[in-house]
Amino acid sequence: MNRTRIFPLRGVGAALLLSQFSCMPRDNNPERLTKATVVRAPFGVLPSGDSVHLFTLTNARGVELRVIDYGGLVISLKTKDRAGALADIVLGFDSLDGYLKSSPYFGALVGRYANRIAKGRFTLDGAAYTLAVNNGPNALHGGLRGFDKVVWRAEPKDDSTGVGVVLSYTSRDGEEGYPGNLNVRVTYTLTDRNAFAIDYLATADKATPINLTQHSYFNLAGDGAGDVLGHVVAIDADRYTPVDTTLIPTGTLEDVAGTPFDFRRGSAIGDHIGDANEQLRRAGGYDHNFVLNRTGPGLQHAVRVVEPKSGRTLDAETTEPGVQFYTGNFLDGTITGKGGHVYKRRNGFCLETQHFPDSPNQPSFPSTILRPGAEYRSRTVYTFGVAP
Ligand code: GLA
Repeated sequence: MNRTRIFPLRGVGAALLLSQFSCMPRDNNPERLTKATVVRAPFGVLPSGDSVHLFTLTNARGVELRVIDYGGLVISLKTKDRAGALADIVLGFDSLDGYLKSSPYFGALVGRYANRIAKGRFTLDGAAYTLAVNNGPNALHGGLRGFDKVVWRAEPKDDSTGVGVVLSYTSRDGEEGYPGNLNVRVTYTLTDRNAFAIDYLATADKATPINLTQHSYFNLAGDGAGDVLGHVVAIDADRYTPVDTTLIPTGTLEDVAGTPFDFRRGSAIGDHIGDANEQLRRAGGYDHNFVLNRTGPGLQHAVRVVEPKSGRTLDAETTEPGVQFYTGNFLDGTITGKGGHVYKRRNGFCLETQHFPDSPNQPSFPSTILRPGAEYRSRTVYTFGVAP
């Protein structure tokens, strides 16, 4: 990959695009660039005897993303702070063992259906389906052995879009209770403009619900830096989906105005997380789906996060209608992760771009049903930068 590929766009379009993102490198950026690389190495062996591989992606600016083919897990992501110092900004474990023992979906590629399906039941084209109930009375994140717990076929890639890994998996008809054989391909790309792009593609031979997402827990101050309450978050959403006591959407879309869910102008996570609010109480913090203000199909900017001390920023763009903003409310100090860091409540946050929870049981929500002959396509791009 040569330097000219860093700005493939030319002219007014390019200038407009670049001007929207203060986090993007400018032409006069003095940073020294190197060739982006993707390197494959062994990472461990599963109890089944299957080998797990690590893919280390490094872009021309030194940003490094580590992914394993078990669960499509993002196990490390190093980005620079204002002073140019790299830190790992995702929670996780040093070795495969941690992920196998008990992981709250750290870095996970979640499917076949991310988030909750009420009582693990849905009806599709007149047939009733039953899923494992693994979260109170509900089904969560694809079941007992969801896409985060299988080994994906993985191929490195290195092309004009960046370095990456192409992950493929065939989920069999009836797996975890879902109908139809589902062929899934997820491409992780790290670009030289410090973007981590995730492209999802799936086809099925029977109608099935599908909702794929990435479940990385971020802490832009660095893994192990404590809570994320000082991170300033802006979410482009006028509404969110309030939940019942088991975190299933009630079906109504509530206006965020005048509530702790109003992140439209940007506020610190800690500003209102402790407010006396029934929705916050039910979830123990933020664990809600925000209804993004979309103006049509395609990739749109959804969330910006700024960590004031390090200066690190994260911009999330997505083609999805919603984002589950989760503030690590279930982390309780019982997990020791990378470098011996003990993960406590609110030590990380997730921005799980997705369709709304429990859509298969909520006729008023955008449909999550994939039918034979159709393609499921979804794209999310997380771009990392620094605030001035
Ligand atoms: C999602 C859910 C949360 C929780 C985490 C994993 O964010 O919405 O309630 O289950 O995954 O712990």
